Amino acid sequence: MKSSSRKNSHEWEAERLEPPPVPDLSGPWRGTGRFSFSPPTPPLPAMSWNRKHLLDIESLTADEILTVLDTARAFKAVGERAIKKVPALRGKTVVNLFIEPSTRTRISFQLSEQRLSADIINFTAEASSLKKGETLKDTARNLEALNADFIVIRHSASGAPHFLARVLNASIINAGDGAHEHPTQALLDTFTIREKKGRIAGLNITILGDVLYSRVARSDLWALTKLGAKVTFCGPSTLVPREFEQMGARVTHDVEEAIRDADIINLLRIQHERQRKTMFPSLGEYTSLFGLNKDRLARTKPDALIMHPGPINRGVEIDSEIADCPRSVILEQVTNGLAVRMAVLFLVNGGKGPQEISA
Ligand code: CP
Repeated sequence: MKSSSRKNSHEWEAERLEPPPVPDLSGPWRGTGRFSFSPPTPPLPAMSWNRKHLLDIESLTADEILTVLDTARAFKAVGERAIKKVPALRGKTVVNLFIEPSTRTRISFQLSEQRLSADIINFTAEASSLKKGETLKDTARNLEALNADFIVIRHSASGAPHFLARVLNASIINAGDGAHEHPTQALLDTFTIREKKGRIAGLNITILGDVLYSRVARSDLWALTKLGAKVTFCGPSTLVPREFEQMGARVTHDVEEAIRDADIINLLRIQHERQRKTMFPSLGEYTSLFGLNKDRLARTKPDALIMHPGPINRGVEIDSEIADCPRSVILEQVTNGLAVRMAVLFLVNGGKGPQEISA
């Protein structure tokens, strides 16, 4: 891994797209917290993960992103076995601190923790002393006093995970903070694209919709551009300001142009809960100008894939028949989220990468 500093991320991407040997996880554990089974031939390149937290994608290197993706690929193979559970987090306690609604991320983290044999506490904000005025810091410190090793946090305030990482000893995983970042969503999106297209570098990826309020758009942009994709943001000018060009995105407000050459069209819902004022005249007008329908789909590349982080608003940003068509990988994104979150938990618990799964 050390020699990777002399290569750019695209070269690494090409090298590492050779499928690693599927690990045999049926063997005994050596009690080290790592998997144990016969070494694959040839050995995987050594990857190195040294982070205690996963707070964002912006601060990750291309190598670190690829390490998560390759570790997730090994865990996806585990998920296809009859016995899907491994003891990587046995004896560790994970708190799922969701202070904002979630279906996919919350359930996916819970299942990934169960698959890794962790003890799990599911914190419900509505039934907690947050309702009595207890602060986030005091709440989290009390959870840590109960020996929480990991806190998976979703919060409406940008920076909440970074704050907890400063005041606690536990490992913090960002499950979505305000309009800032949603790192595991970006990792599962990138994993899905790589699995489907065989690469990330050189792909044209259009992210269409409410970019301004989207943590997914920001995290996707960081992940995909670090791996060499070209990312276009499209939507009404009120929701897709030119300022995003400074982050490395191409910005257009012409939907036909944005989708014409796209290899991936990733749709975002309108986030009414974050908008402080009306950003466009009506939902009907938004749908007519920017919604993905059959006519627009007919003018895309025949192998362009349709993605959406969910929840989808059928008939608004995407027609129902498009959401369910063969080119939609929306539910595969959800499936891949499980392996990606297992990989993230494994790595922040001290794992270095997939080579340990094959050690
Ligand atoms: N994609 C996503 O974050 O969905 P949830 O809000 O349901 O977790």
